[in-house]
Amino acid sequence: MALLYAEQVEYLDVEEMQETHEEEIKILNEVEKLATQYTMDKSNKSKLSELEAKLDEYIEHIKVHFANEERLMKKYNFPSYEMHKTAHDMFLTDIDYAIQQWKNFGDINKVINFIFKSPEWIVLHINTVDVPTARYIAQKMANEAE
Ligand SMILES: [Fe+2]
Ligand SMILES: [Fe+2]
Repeated sequence: MALLYAEQVEYLDVEEMQETHEEEIKILNEVEKLATQYTMDKSNKSKLSELEAKLDEYIEHIKVHFANEERLMKKYNFPSYEMHKTAHDMFLTDIDYAIQQWKNFGDINKVINFIFKSPEWIVLHINTVDVPTARYIAQKMANEAE
């Protein structure tokens, strides 16, 4: 069973936003799988390095994902830019804190806990914030194409 399924989040009107979400859900599920395996056998050092590498990949993906949405919002003058950007920044602050605990004090459990709780935020954010943003941007893109 996966932590999150692409079907749990609403389909977006902007293709590149949709693709980013699907990719990110895939990476998140890989993180979850490795984290579960590592939790079952904490002496497995190679599993730990696999998990660390996957976490880095996931965090990098989130940062690029958010930055790209913010770029699109600016490009098309999305009126609720500030609200949407603040939501991203708050999520990044939380994940950065967990990562600091991990990188500075070797406490990977903080990150694992964060990852396991994150689907709730992700679903809510996509369905209530990304959906109207994508609808607006898709409309602007269509006007531009005319
Ligand atoms: Fe998004
Ligand atoms: Fe977003």
